[in-house]
Amino acid sequence: MKRVLSGIQPSGVLTIGNYIGAMRQFVALQHEADCFFCIVDLHALTVPQDPAALHRQTLDLAALYLAVGLDPKKVTLFVQSHVPAHAELGWLLQCLAYFGEMSRMTQFKEKSAGKESVSVGLFTYPALMAADILLYQADLVPVGEDQKQHVELTRDLAERFNHRFGETFRVPEPLIPKVGARIMSLDDPTKKMSKSNPNPNSYISLLDPPEVIQRKIRRAVTDSEAEVRYDPERKPAVSNLMEIYSQLAGISLEEVAERYRGKGYGVFKQDLAEVVVSALAPIQERYRELRESPELLRILDEGAEKAAAVAEATLRTVKERMGLVLPARYRQR
Ligand code: AQP
Repeated sequence: MKRVLSGIQPSGVLTIGNYIGAMRQFVALQHEADCFFCIVDLHALTVPQDPAALHRQTLDLAALYLAVGLDPKKVTLFVQSHVPAHAELGWLLQCLAYFGEMSRMTQFKEKSAGKESVSVGLFTYPALMAADILLYQADLVPVGEDQKQHVELTRDLAERFNHRFGETFRVPEPLIPKVGARIMSLDDPTKKMSKSNPNPNSYISLLDPPEVIQRKIRRAVTDSEAEVRYDPERKPAVSNLMEIYSQLAGISLEEVAERYRGKGYGVFKQDLAEVVVSALAPIQERYRELRESPELLRILDEGAEKAAAVAEATLRTVKERMGLVLPARYRQR
């Protein structure tokens, strides 16, 4: 069975971009692979977070993971900071990574652009992400298009380590969906939809109520024509809305175009809002049941225990190969 690892940051309420680009693959993969999914709270700290919001969003994300259909009996669901091996291997990999290759990460460039000060953590976080993946000897990393470069860095670091210290890490492959891997912002189709965007009209969150979804879609930018046609080059905004429709209604882009031939943007947007509302309704209902349940923390505790057992075994080998004297917790085993 293939081993799968992926994570999502509790840096806001998840958007339909996170859902279409990442989470839906997670749900499908749980039936065919040995899956580890984490809430990467240490990654969220790379930009300033309000402690109360971070705490709430971490539990929101845990409930959403389950609400979209992940079964804790099939997958290992855990919080990254509950397994200290992530931070430890993150440091060891930082010492293996080159400043030049880290400087080429486009997500760092985008997230730091125009900011007066950025944390060192934002710069080095791809090494922590590599640690997340390599600790579990993952074969596959299901991610949206924006994370592809980070998985490639992970592969480079794994190969470098193996070459220098002996075969230790499995070299993982990114698993990027053929469609829906990059859902764009509703107010600017040149930017990807992001949960931490300060403008809430730029995204649809998985927890937005129906009237908010309708309003956001009504306001979404289109273009000066009125034709519902898929043309990402010339009509990026409408094409993005068509992609969301196609993904959530489960029909092809051709069918969407056919359905709205000659009907204009007004009807299309109204129907799109209905498609989104009905796709999210069952998720929101399950989320409300799970969010306040004592089960939630129990599932995360169990997940962390299972994850730590795998992660510690890898970390022990890494430390040994790098020449570190093993601490008592390893020697006594
Ligand atoms: N717009 C998107 N379209 C498709 N997939 C997306 N993902 C993110 N945005 C889109 C995928 O969702 C997973 C979780 O991402 P993350 O939380 O680890 O960080 P991110 O990629 O930086 O996502 P956000 O929403 O943009 O978060 P913030 O605003 O905090 O930076 C990843 O698999 C990602 O590819």
